[in-house]
Parts: sequence; C-alpha cells; structure tokens
Amino acid sequence: MSFLADKCTFCELTESVLSACRPFSCGNEDLDDFFAHDATRYAHFLMGKTYCFRLVKDPGTIVCAFTVSNDSIRIYDLPRGRRDHMKRLTHHEKPLRRYPGVLLGRLGVGAEFAGRGIGSKTLDFVKGWFYSSENKTGCRFVIVDAVNEPRIVSFYERNGFHPLFSSEEQEFLYTGGKKGEPVDLSTRLLYFDLLELQKSDS
Ligand SMILES: CC(C)(COP(=O)(O)OP(=O)(O)OC[C@H]1O[C@@H](n2cnc3c(N)ncnc32)[C@H](O)[C@@H]1OP(=O)(O)O)[C@@H](O)C(=O)NCCC(=O)NCCS
Repeated sequence: MSFLADKCTFCELTESVLSACRPFSCGNEDLDDFFAHDATRYAHFLMGKTYCFRLVKDPGTIVCAFTVSNDSIRIYDLPRGRRDHMKRLTHHEKPLRRYPGVLLGRLGVGAEFAGRGIGSKTLDFVKGWFYSSENKTGCRFVIVDAVNEPRIVSFYERNGFHPLFSSEEQEFLYTGGKKGEPVDLSTRLLYFDLLELQKSDS
C-alpha cells in the first residue's frame, strides 16, 4: 500500500492546476517560490517539466512536486577512479564522453506530509518512470544536485543515490574551486544508476 498510489492523482503542474490548489509549501522558501512562480515558465521554454501528486479526496491539496529535465554525467570531467568506475558500467563499442540521465532538479514534499515516506516513494516513482520501456530516450541515471545538508544528503543515500565525487574537497576542486580555498559547497551531486532496477526485476 502506498500513499501516493492509493490516495493521490498525478499530473503536470500547470497554471490551471496551480490556480485550483492551495499554496504549496515544503518548508524551503526558494523551492516554494519556484513551484508557485517559475515552474510553468520553465515548462514553456522546455527547460524543465514539473509534476505533482494531489490528494484524490481534496484535489486542492498538493502533496509533493518535482521538476525533471534532461542531463548527463560528463565522465571525462570526473576524477580518475570515478571515471574508470563509470567506464566499466557500459559497453565500449564507441566510447561516450557523456552518459545520459535525467536531472531531478527540484523535489518538495508538503510540510504537513513530510517524514512519512512520501519523498522516498516519489524517488521510486521517478526511477520507475525513466527506467520504463515507455521512456523514449536512453536514460541511465537519475541525477540530483542536493542541498548540502546532512539530512538531505542522507535521504538520497538511503534511497540508493551515490555521491558523484567521493569527498566534498574533490567535488569542490572538480567544480571550479581553487586549491587552498576553504571548501564551500552549497549542493552535492548524487546519482542513481537505473540499471539497479534490473536487479530488483529479476
Ligand atoms: C527532503 C524531502 C523531500 C524528504 O521528503 P519526505 O517525504 O519527508 O522523506 P521520507 O519520509 O521519505 O524520508 C524522511 C527523511 O528525509 C530527510 N529529510 C530531510 N529534510 C526533511 C524534513 N524537512 N522533514 C522530514 N524529513 C526530512 C531525513 O533524512 C528524513 O529521515 P529522518 O527522519 O530519519 O531524519 C522533504 O522533507 C522536503 O520537501 N524538504 C524540503 C525541501 C527540500 O529540502 N528538498 C530537497 C532539495 S534537494
């Protein structure tokens, strides 16, 4: 039994959905503002599509929302160990410089629904959605650029995501930070390998 599957409907977050719903708040002001004001413009310019789950009993309540867009992992921009690991994940007929994925750019669960497994179920939904044979493009990874807070990073790790860089120092240096400067990362890149779902299929 899953709350999202049993008690919610799923749709794109459009202007008409927003105007039919009460304001959505996940407790992060930037995200709330994005979903309320920017998400539909992103969709208009094909830069990201936002979807939401709403209560069946009360369609004016948004339970959670998320935004997805195409992305990739540039493997030649990775430290050697991670690059070698990535190369071993696939065939080598033609070496690819970038491995395809989907960026889960934003994710918010309504504050009144937090801590009940809904965020984790939403991640399961996104994984299944992009792993599905109905997905029109090759998509190997779900990628997130997670707020660099222990509770958030551990939320993704518990859901099978791995940091793209093994340490904050490494991520800082490989994403433009200078050696000797204090390591200051507001977000951490993590990925989930969708082929992991093959193991649970079999
Ligand atoms: C992070 C978030 C999506 C998790 O959704 P959720 O439905 O609460 O997640 P689950 O119930 O599946 O898992 C709970 C875990 O999420 C993490 N978490 C992070 N922030 C949380 C919050 N504000 N409330 C509850 N759990 C939170 C914790 O690891 C928690 O486990 P713990 O209770 O053992 O510490 C949700 O809390 C949220 O929308 N937060 C505000 C927006 C945000 O930070 N989004 C992520 C940006 S990268």
